[in-house]
Amino acid sequence: MAVSYASSSSVSATLLVLMMVVSLSSAAKFEELFQPSWAQDHFEYEGELLKLKLDNYSGAGFASKSKYMFGKVTVQIKLVEGDSAGTVTAFYMSSDGPAHNEFDFEFLGNTTGEPYVVQTNVYVNGVGNREQRLNLWFDPTQGFHSYSILWNRRQVVFLVDETPIRVHSNMEKQGIAFPKDQAMGVYSSIWNADDWATQGGLVKTNWAHAPFVASYKGFDINGCEAVPTAETTDIASKCSSNGQKRYWWDEPTLSELSLHQSHQLMWVRAKHMIYDYCTDTARFPTTPAECIHHRHH
Ligand SMILES: *[C@@H]1O[C@H](CO)[C@@H](O)[C@H](O)[C@H]1NC(C)=O
Ligand SMILES: *[C@@H]1O[C@H](CO)[C@@H](O)[C@H](O)[C@H]1NC(C)=O
Repeated sequence: MAVSYASSSSVSATLLVLMMVVSLSSAAKFEELFQPSWAQDHFEYEGELLKLKLDNYSGAGFASKSKYMFGKVTVQIKLVEGDSAGTVTAFYMSSDGPAHNEFDFEFLGNTTGEPYVVQTNVYVNGVGNREQRLNLWFDPTQGFHSYSILWNRRQVVFLVDETPIRVHSNMEKQGIAFPKDQAMGVYSSIWNADDWATQGGLVKTNWAHAPFVASYKGFDINGCEAVPTAETTDIASKCSSNGQKRYWWDEPTLSELSLHQSHQLMWVRAKHMIYDYCTDTARFPTTPAECIHHRHH
């Protein structure tokens, strides 16, 4: 009896540890990873859901408590239902300072029944101007969909429900700077951008339809936390794979898209892309260098 009692309690202790590990690596609670960064009174918590509201007084935003080097961040979002014209909901990673790097998802609202547009952008050393825009293959206001950014030394991949919609590859060999030496925070916000967001700013926010509400759940960050440890004060070396440790995002299979993912990306670009800075010759008479190299793929 004593033996079986002891073993069952060690089984439950093992289970408890397993459950803790699982809950840390799967979708974590908002408060574990994030905190409101402005307009806390425009936050509403409903069980596992977080709602951010935009009205004529304020939008709202949140930020990760930590910064990260590499990994994957995911959140599930249900965008503003009905009339969302003039509003922008953003989910992005960014480092600090004038030479910052940034990976953006921006969801541009629209009048009722007209499609949301997803704009992505990549800033490297403080310079953006790398917009791409697409329509989605579903209505993002009718349910939750996952939006992810995968970041490693070889590529930055934007994913929607695990389908890649954009890849920004490391082309340092061609002399093109790649963001890989600044830790980044994870952010989201909703705000009024009716000077540019919908039909280039022609359609203004209709405040009679406020509050505009974006809902979130499934917060997940699986990356190297940029906190110096006792062994190393250097984040870059802490977050590098080496002899003793190998981070999952440094696996060779993640250095580029799989064949299946490449096909998915080709489908997205063929069927859903509505704007690509790479082909905007009026804006960029000289094709941006990273676009020229991309074409060879
Ligand atoms: C905001 O909207 C409310 C409700 O429509 C209105 O009563 C209020 O005056 C507005 N406030 C501002 C600052 O425009
Ligand atoms: C809004 O809907 C119009 C009409 O369908 C479309 O042209 C536009 O791209 C949509 N999105 C934005 C952000 O303007």
